[in-house]
Amino acid sequence: MEKAVIEIAGKKYELKVITGTEGEKAIDISELRKLTGHITLDYGFMNTGVCRSAISFIDGEKGILRYRGIPIEELAEKSTFVETSYLLIHGELPGKNELENYSELLNYHSMLHEDMKHFFDGFPAASHPMNILSTMLNALSSFYPEIETNTKIENIDLAATRLISKTRTIAAFSYKKSKGHPFVYPRKDLTYCANFLNMMFSSPVATYEIDPDIVKALNLLLIIHAEHEQNCSTTAVKTIGSSGVNLYTSISAGVSALWGTLHGGANQEVIEMLEAIGKPENISKFISRAKDKNDSFRLMGFGHRVYKNYDPRARILKKTCDKILAKIKTSQPLLEIAQKLEEIALRDEYFIERKLYPNVDFYSGIIYKAIGIPVEMFTVMFAIGRMPGWIAHWKELNSDQETKILRPRQVYIGSKIRNYIPIDKR
Ligand code: SDX
Repeated sequence: MEKAVIEIAGKKYELKVITGTEGEKAIDISELRKLTGHITLDYGFMNTGVCRSAISFIDGEKGILRYRGIPIEELAEKSTFVETSYLLIHGELPGKNELENYSELLNYHSMLHEDMKHFFDGFPAASHPMNILSTMLNALSSFYPEIETNTKIENIDLAATRLISKTRTIAAFSYKKSKGHPFVYPRKDLTYCANFLNMMFSSPVATYEIDPDIVKALNLLLIIHAEHEQNCSTTAVKTIGSSGVNLYTSISAGVSALWGTLHGGANQEVIEMLEAIGKPENISKFISRAKDKNDSFRLMGFGHRVYKNYDPRARILKKTCDKILAKIKTSQPLLEIAQKLEEIALRDEYFIERKLYPNVDFYSGIIYKAIGIPVEMFTVMFAIGRMPGWIAHWKELNSDQETKILRPRQVYIGSKIRNYIPIDKR
């Protein structure tokens, strides 16, 4: 067993070193406070591993991402979102029968309880769809209480199927509500992505022609958003789940965390930033603002906590952007600005020195916009994609014998002990 040695006040302590599948090293500090009386301090957990996990592997220096060992490039090209979500949740690609049964179940559970439709009437018209989604997913635990008391694995898999399927329906219904249009119900004869597009864009007076190229583009977008190890929203799902609360409520916390502009909310911010830039000649002004410490503006869709190289998902999207736009015969003026912005930033010392590259959010919005998804729905699309990743981590947390309730320590810097002062003496 490899060891790490630390010395505190002249005394040496040995700590175990753990090695991951790809040779990553971790110092096990689970006994540190007992051994040394010290804790560690690590804002943002930038250097801290919270668990062992077998779901995805990221090499930030090399720009590698694999789901259950399979490179994201292969899944993006050959798989579907339904098949990839099965892989993430169950650990293996499904056989033909397993995939057929899973697709059947997703279809069977695609409707909402009819009483949930009235929830939409309670939201103000301008409610953000992430707000609606987080609320509705939490409410599922009231409609399906069996998961509260009995977390047998078949119950978890049923809840997982409901979540993956109903999130899509809730998203489409919230869009219809925002337009004042009637809800369009899921159809048994349509595949997962085709069903979503139909619920979003068809209406009693206008049929929606389902374009196989758009269905393929949507599968690719959802696949590349499906999982990303211990990111902020997955950590939110695990923190809530570690207290013993049900899967639906844990997932609704993940939606809330994803909404943040530094996390999943960035894809909406990227489009708004590209629209604010407006034309290539304005790019340098925005680059200067992003570099200015006194300006809170950041280049949205750039930089990443783990990737200090090109985000492989951004590389896939950049490569397919042109292909998808050409296939669906749409030009996207924002694409030219995005490509120019990337070119200028990647030549700039500030971005090179800090290893800031485009991340998954930089190009995704351009494709969502091209296939007709409204910008306020972009982060909801991220949530639909990330659902299997969140569920897989919640399942892994609950089956890991070493799991404990997530409760970090702190370094106290407040007042020394002092007495209560009666109000007439203050
Ligand atoms: C996602 O974790 C995941 O896996 C997330 C995700 C997933 O799939 O779940 O990949 C999805 O959230 C992608 C990230 C989307 N967010 C954005 O695009 C928002 C813009 N990016 C940044 O806010 C930032 O890069 C973060 C939040 C993504 C990462 O921030 P870190 O790791 O905390 O890094 P940092 O803020 O400490 O930045 C280091 C330096 C700082 O400069 P100095 O203080 O060293 O001088 O880089 C600078 C930062 O100011 N910097 C940027 C920048 N990002 C970092 N400067 C300008 N523009 C940026 N975008």
